[in-house]
Amino acid sequence: MQIVILIALSVFIGVVVLISFVLCGILFLNIFTNRKDPPFVPVSKDILADIIKSLKIKSGDTVYDIGCGDARVLLACCKKHPDANYIGIEKNIYPYLVSLSRVWISGKSNSIRIKKRDFFFEDVSQAAGIFAYLYQHTMDDLLPKFEKELSKGTRLVSCDFAFTNKEPGEVVELNRLSKSLCKKLYIYEF
Ligand SMILES: C[S@@+](CC[C@H](N)C(=O)[O-])C[C@H]1O[C@@H](n2cnc3c(N)ncnc32)[C@H](O)[C@@H]1O
Repeated sequence: MQIVILIALSVFIGVVVLISFVLCGILFLNIFTNRKDPPFVPVSKDILADIIKSLKIKSGDTVYDIGCGDARVLLACCKKHPDANYIGIEKNIYPYLVSLSRVWISGKSNSIRIKKRDFFFEDVSQAAGIFAYLYQHTMDDLLPKFEKELSKGTRLVSCDFAFTNKEPGEVVELNRLSKSLCKKLYIYEF
């Protein structure tokens, strides 16, 4: 009888700790992040194949996810194209720790590097491909940096948010996913 109570108590404490961890993470993000910054909302897993196809990754390429969240895009790209290098930039501690753990658990630490920093201060001149799922005003603020740093031919794939002052080379419609937020991929070549 005592052992049952002990097990039940341990399970209860475990659940409380887990819920507290998740709530603290959400609270931390809400209090300490700039409200104009794009929040941690990962892309739907259903569109990962479309993103990989749009990036046209080649062997030896360096591919960025700016604001990499839980690193799902980089992990999926690395699974399909293990001979490229991947860099995730993440400013917020909670998604940063999640992405770091996921990369470590996947055993892909040699190919995927996660940096805790603001992407406005990251030199992306070595990028052959960039993925972004941000906000329209963030994309617009980033455009002068991209135009200055990116070499000719670099592909940039943005989920749902297009630049105001740059025409995409291609737009992939993702409307088949009725419940998902991700409706379009805007593909740019610099
Ligand atoms: C909409 S989520 C996209 C996550 C991931 N790219 C995906 O598609 O699953 C945007 C991410 O950008 C991060 N972020 C927002 N502003 C940032 C900044 N200035 N520098 C680095 N990361 C930023 C947020 O913390 C969040 O994880």
